[in-house]
Amino acid sequence: MDPVHAVKGMNDLFPADVARWQQIEAMFRQVVGLAGYGEIRVPIVEHTPLYVRSVGEGTDIVDKEMYSFAFHDEAMTIRPEGTAGVVRAFVEHKMYSSEPLARYAYLGPMFRGERPARGRYRQFHQAGCEAFGDGGPGIDAEMIAMLVDYLKAVGAEGITVAINSIGDRGAKARYRDALVAYLEPHKSKLSSDSQRRLTTNPLRILDSKNPDDQALVQDAPSVFDVLDDADRAHFEQLEAMLRAMHVPFECEPRLVRGLDYYTRTLFEVRCSNAELGAQTAIAGGGRYDHLVEELGGPDTPAIGFAIGLERLLIATRAPQDAKPFRVFIAPLGARAIEYALTLAQSLRAAGIATIADTRGGSMKSMLRRADSLQSKVAIVLGDRELDARVAQVKDLANHSQSEVALDDLVIKVTELAKVGQGE
Ligand code: HAM
Repeated sequence: MDPVHAVKGMNDLFPADVARWQQIEAMFRQVVGLAGYGEIRVPIVEHTPLYVRSVGEGTDIVDKEMYSFAFHDEAMTIRPEGTAGVVRAFVEHKMYSSEPLARYAYLGPMFRGERPARGRYRQFHQAGCEAFGDGGPGIDAEMIAMLVDYLKAVGAEGITVAINSIGDRGAKARYRDALVAYLEPHKSKLSSDSQRRLTTNPLRILDSKNPDDQALVQDAPSVFDVLDDADRAHFEQLEAMLRAMHVPFECEPRLVRGLDYYTRTLFEVRCSNAELGAQTAIAGGGRYDHLVEELGGPDTPAIGFAIGLERLLIATRAPQDAKPFRVFIAPLGARAIEYALTLAQSLRAAGIATIADTRGGSMKSMLRRADSLQSKVAIVLGDRELDARVAQVKDLANHSQSEVALDDLVIKVTELAKVGQGE
């Protein structure tokens, strides 16, 4: 264990990366904010039983991937996903009485001990939305369309939407039985993981990555054989609404998702960008109509989704930003450094990004640094300039230089900034 190596599957982000993160996060808040989703912030650590009861025993997340620990005899888990915590908050604060149609959005890190690969990390970030109190297909369609609009707005290309219904509790149980009845005679051909899942969580066998399991699953019964009339009507209305909103989608009867709380609508957005390799799912979600009640609240239907932000960033190219206008102050000598500090304060107060080279150093090294920081203007001052109450202002883009009175510096640089920003 090397203390100066990051934990496997967890990444550092430096300012150049963070700038792009901030763009996609701001765009997310804007797009979902326009549809009525307000940001909620819940703790990163919850009691372990919350995830066991919601995400479910027999899921990969709960069985193998959770960062769990005991703290003073209490079992805690660092969140592997966002929905359970948001539902817990909704129930705990009885938000259903004041906000029966609550809509929440969240952004933040999630933790799963998966095998790291490109696009699959142990600390990753999600942006998600959860809508409570609406059981009809309208909100399903609106949410999927909003998600697609957002992904397109940030530049994701080649995206496809897969939808399915897993039915309400009755159909889900019937499907489970049908699947077990079909797979049981082939049990010996299943992978050892799937043999175990046959008793713990048979639906999970449908998204096994094992080729033998996949071959068997090809002819497994379809969930559409067991849906009841209300499930079927919900799904058909969702399809009709998506068509009306011009959202292309594919119906995938074997789509199941790795969390147990889902009922009825399930969806996944994939991106064909080759950079993603095998991790093509950039977002996923679905209905969880019974989770609020299971966690102690009133019967409240709900639906949500989460986007994997690392995957989204891999799949999109950042627009080329115009470099921001930046001033560099190169002071020669202790007196000039002191002046540079107050000058930098005045320039920043005028809204101009300013770096003062407080190391001092040679003029050559300071100008090299101004260049490497892509500064537009360098202000050079030494004792001679301070005595004469002037400074040399170098326009680094045009390679021109002028002498400016100290008292006029802020005005002069503000003018240069306006020209630089094309105003
Ligand atoms: P999920 O499908 O487990 O759903 O995760 C959503 C997205 O998070 C995935 O589509 C993927 O882009 C990203 N993701 C998941 N695991 C990783 C990982 N190890 N590394 C990088 N990205 C990852 C949920 O988490 C549900 N809570 C979504 C939801 C909200 N359903 C209803 N409401």
